[in-house]
Amino acid sequence: MDDPASLESVSGDRVGRLLQQARAQADPEGFLSFDRWMELVLYAEGLGYYSRPRSPFGPTGDFYTAPQVHPLFAASFAERILGVRVQLGPERPFTLVEIGPGDGTLLAGIVARLGPQLDPGQDVRIVLVERSTPLRSAALLRVREAARPFGLRVSTAESVAALGPFEGVIVTNELLDALPVRRLRWDGSAWRELGVRFGPSGIRADQGPPADPVSGPPLPTAPPDGTVFEFSPAAEGLVREIADHLVAGVWLLDDYGMDEDELLQAHPDGTLATVRHHRSGADPLADPGETDLSTFVNWSRLRSVARAAGLEPIGDRSQAETLGAWGFPRLFEEALARAGSSEAEVRLRLSVKNLLFGFERFRILEWAPVGRAAGFRIPT
Ligand SMILES: C[S@@+](CC[C@H](N)C(=O)[O-])C[C@H]1O[C@@H](n2cnc3c(N)ncnc32)[C@H](O)[C@@H]1O
Repeated sequence: MDDPASLESVSGDRVGRLLQQARAQADPEGFLSFDRWMELVLYAEGLGYYSRPRSPFGPTGDFYTAPQVHPLFAASFAERILGVRVQLGPERPFTLVEIGPGDGTLLAGIVARLGPQLDPGQDVRIVLVERSTPLRSAALLRVREAARPFGLRVSTAESVAALGPFEGVIVTNELLDALPVRRLRWDGSAWRELGVRFGPSGIRADQGPPADPVSGPPLPTAPPDGTVFEFSPAAEGLVREIADHLVAGVWLLDDYGMDEDELLQAHPDGTLATVRHHRSGADPLADPGETDLSTFVNWSRLRSVARAAGLEPIGDRSQAETLGAWGFPRLFEEALARAGSSEAEVRLRLSVKNLLFGFERFRILEWAPVGRAAGFRIPT
């Protein structure tokens, strides 16, 4: 496997099999909608970007997420989760779920901070819902390791629905931006579906038939001709699934996005982005399965879906503001006091600067089941 030629043929074979699967799903004219393309190239079992044995995170991967910048990020989440647990009543069964934990860095960091503050024998379960097989294994190992000293139960689940109704906290970090999106273009009189087209000379980006009807909030009406609009039925389905199963507690949701008006104005060509080895690419069809694809979250649409499904907002601030409200300044002071050397102190300050100012477009939203939110709100 060290021979570059054999590596190339393995990856070539993988791309070939991905393309075959995509071709099989295309319509008789060779057209496949973008959400189905994105679903395959990111998640096809054993073939998609997140199914590869190589980790997408960190210096040797393609991108960093906030939990990888510094453990203070996870520590702040742990503070917030403890607060919710106190509100729910420490004697009650409590479930902490992370959906899309990737390699488990955030959840392991949370568990390491929560563990010492939970009494042994309390009914607490920690659950990972991660669809990538290699990442699920890595996360389970990491989180179990963090939970072992405290005797906490850690398991995996196929989905939130598989847990049945529960009380507790759901965490998602950079999950929604990685879910497949439909891309529509306004042609002056109707929305047309965008996607990929298979032809004799390969695949190309193309426009398909008029878009199928959209469930949920209505599409924007009559934007400038050529406007591209992205939305994620998968993300909206997940919101509904969470609303149906989180009986009491809070969903803490960190991601980047914009409100719909701002998206249409600032990104009339859409927000689809590709990244590989920490560089963005120009062609979203290049290197299928080797390149990450993501889009901005449409906050307006998701808020509306959440409300209709029975979730109400109890927090909606920038990542930096939310961390501040969750105790970040005190945690930072404590970490500084423990730094031990001026070099460690400088490193800590740089990481904190990155956490607070490097995730500009990120917001942390907090949603709770309607009617069960009162005690969970943190004053601004
Ligand atoms: C951008 S990564 C973020 C990973 C991690 N939360 C972090 O911040 O480092 C998105 C993760 O969500 C996972 N994922 C995507 N769709 C999912 C779904 N429907 N259920 C569970 N995990 C999912 C992916 O496999 C991937 O691990």
